Amino acid sequence: MKELNTIGVLTSGGDAPGMNAAIRAIVRTALASGLKVKGILRGYAGLLNEEIIDMDAKSVSEISRRGGTILYTARCKEFVTKAGQEKAADICRKHGIDGLIVIGGDGSFKGAQKLSALGVNTIGIPGTIDLDIDCTDYTIGFDTAVNTAVSAIDKIKDTSTSHERCSIIEVMGRNAGYIALWCQMANGADGILIPEKDAFDYQDLVDTIMHNRQRGKTHHVIINAEGVGHSNTLAKRIEAATGIETRATILGHIQRGGTPTARDRVVAATMGAYAVDLIFKGETDRVICYKDGKYVDFDINEGLAMKKTIDEYQFLVSRLMSMY
Ligand code: ADP
Ligand code: F6P
Repeated sequence: MKELNTIGVLTSGGDAPGMNAAIRAIVRTALASGLKVKGILRGYAGLLNEEIIDMDAKSVSEISRRGGTILYTARCKEFVTKAGQEKAADICRKHGIDGLIVIGGDGSFKGAQKLSALGVNTIGIPGTIDLDIDCTDYTIGFDTAVNTAVSAIDKIKDTSTSHERCSIIEVMGRNAGYIALWCQMANGADGILIPEKDAFDYQDLVDTIMHNRQRGKTHHVIINAEGVGHSNTLAKRIEAATGIETRATILGHIQRGGTPTARDRVVAATMGAYAVDLIFKGETDRVICYKDGKYVDFDINEGLAMKKTIDEYQFLVSRLMSMY
């Protein structure tokens, strides 16, 4: 096994609350093991531009409570090409980076895999608000994001109730319905639209709203995961069909920002330290996961091959919670 002196860390793809807590854990665990740490700014784009900084224990002080990522994040087309990946691997070697920890989602892990194949030991940490990586029961950022959405929906419900309106609330998750599902369970809603389920039955939605209104419900909420429907168009259609004043609210990026919850910080710290341990053992091409109550790691390929589906029991419960 080659001698390990220096590791790198980068954040990539959509930012997620808790990424900073992971960076802090990586830096401090690595320093405690006698390693040097380099922070790569702006994900793979920054790697290709050699935006590389030295990190010490102080450089990560007071960051675990901050949302976003102090290393910035980016999406990078050049890195998806073979030439881009070879250039990135050469840059890692040039800067003496013996191992790289990538905090991001499944796209970022595909990139990590490519670097691993080119001889750079690489470990992935799941950082995405979407909870859309099947090999892990948790992804850093989900708890903060869903709590932000739940609290926003509580507020919208106050005004929706006062005006006896219907609210279409769009939450994030272009290809993933977990935030929407959890909001329905936590907030209650007349219906949810999520990408994992077949095309939604528009007439069924209208019938549910009318049925609930006839039973005395004075406000209605439909939670729409980002990828499913156009919320403003849906609002107009529902208003026309039901005669109930309907407004759309798109929660957007507020779900990606904000102070990370304790859960996000603690999971991030544990995964960060675990990633350094794996790098230290000479492991590569692995993704850290929280599965069945334990921290484990999988081969990235194996991990990404698993297809995340919606938990059918949670889905059933969420529907039962909507009965009025
Ligand atoms: P996330 O990691 O949150 O899923 P993206 O899918 O946007 O976010 O991926 C982040 C970055 O990872 C991309 O901009 C690209 O540079 C890199 N990446 C994504 N897919 C691949 C791939 N198949 N091969 C190499 N790099 C990839
Ligand atoms: O991965 C998190 C996420 O918020 C997805 O739910 C969403 O589709 C995507 O990022 C949007 O990213 P951006 O607004 O940065 O393009």
